Amino acid sequence: MLIAPSLLAADFLHLEKEVETVNAHADILHLDIMDGTFVPNISFGFPVVEAVARIARKPMDVHLMIVHPEKYVERFAKAGAAMISFHYEAALEESDAVIDHIHACGVKAGIVINPDCPVEKIFPYLGKVDYVLLMSVFAGFGGQKFIEDTYARIRAVKAELQRIDSKALIEVDGGVTTKNAGRLAKAGVDILVAGSAVFRAEDPAAAVTALREG
Ligand code: DX5
Ligand code: ZN
Repeated sequence: MLIAPSLLAADFLHLEKEVETVNAHADILHLDIMDGTFVPNISFGFPVVEAVARIARKPMDVHLMIVHPEKYVERFAKAGAAMISFHYEAALEESDAVIDHIHACGVKAGIVINPDCPVEKIFPYLGKVDYVLLMSVFAGFGGQKFIEDTYARIRAVKAELQRIDSKALIEVDGGVTTKNAGRLAKAGVDILVAGSAVFRAEDPAAAVTALREG
């Protein structure tokens, strides 16, 4: 299982140190982009992502929680994203086009759904995405409580991926801790996003190891 610390929970006064922790100990750097419209919160944008890109040595995974994701895909690709995910709820029938656009930028494409979106809604796209991001809290804020229903949703997506013989990965984001990491690994999660559990831990490097070991 790959561990993707979410920079949202980092100390923004010392971002360099935080990115170096990810470089040294984790697998992927998760960057949460919020626009205050798709979600009721604003995080950070291009200047921060571009600065982080200068020192990031692990793939940057940009999670777009924004309306009109297609408008910003290219700029995040140019900023150095290796993976870009967008919310199905923000794109709906445009999802196909957004996935194609992300791929045309040479970036891996992920589709995201919030916990209240039926998993079947994204089944039509599972054949073309590189990963599926299942939110285990409602997108918008770090530090929320993990929603237990996520396990059943992972199983449903996993079964459909197997049925269509897709190699797409499953990523889970929100409320991930060392208490649920093991069960998530067993459920078949490939990428575990963790904000508070890494950057608010006394020893972030040890926290990454603990999450990976479940
Ligand atoms: C929430 C973000 C998450 C967030 C996770 O909308 O997508 O990536 O940073 O934070 P924790 O791990 O603290 O729940
Ligand atoms: Zn995220």
